[in-house]
Amino acid sequence: MHVRTIDPVTATVHLRVLMEDPQSLTGKKDAEVTIKAHKGMNILEACMASGINIEHACGGVCACSTCHVYLEAGAKDVSEATEAEEDRVEEAPGLQRNSRLSCQCELKGDGPVTIRVPSWNRNAVKEDADHHDDH
Ligand code: FES
Repeated sequence: MHVRTIDPVTATVHLRVLMEDPQSLTGKKDAEVTIKAHKGMNILEACMASGINIEHACGGVCACSTCHVYLEAGAKDVSEATEAEEDRVEEAPGLQRNSRLSCQCELKGDGPVTIRVPSWNRNAVKEDADHHDDH
């Protein structure tokens, strides 16, 4: 997946990211960070560009559900879910009314937008990564 870089001077969108397992997403302990992003980026892209490594098995093309996040606030500043996203997100574990696929959720306004990344987002990957040393 091609990730655009964020220019902190011109980025206007405020995206607050709450992480249930921050260590595995960022390598740091902070469970909450606020990042800046550009309008037109999707949430997965904005997070990846800011060092928050949300899982994205299909590369951001709405063909898996591993990039699932909860949209906690700021719904008016993101794109509405398409039918394809709604069908796909139903496969995600821990489905809630505010579930979104972060790769399909485009930032449309300046926010603040708040998302929460569930801890199993990385756990599923860790189980497969036998050789991965977590220290
Ligand atoms: S990365 Fe696969 S659906 Fe978002």
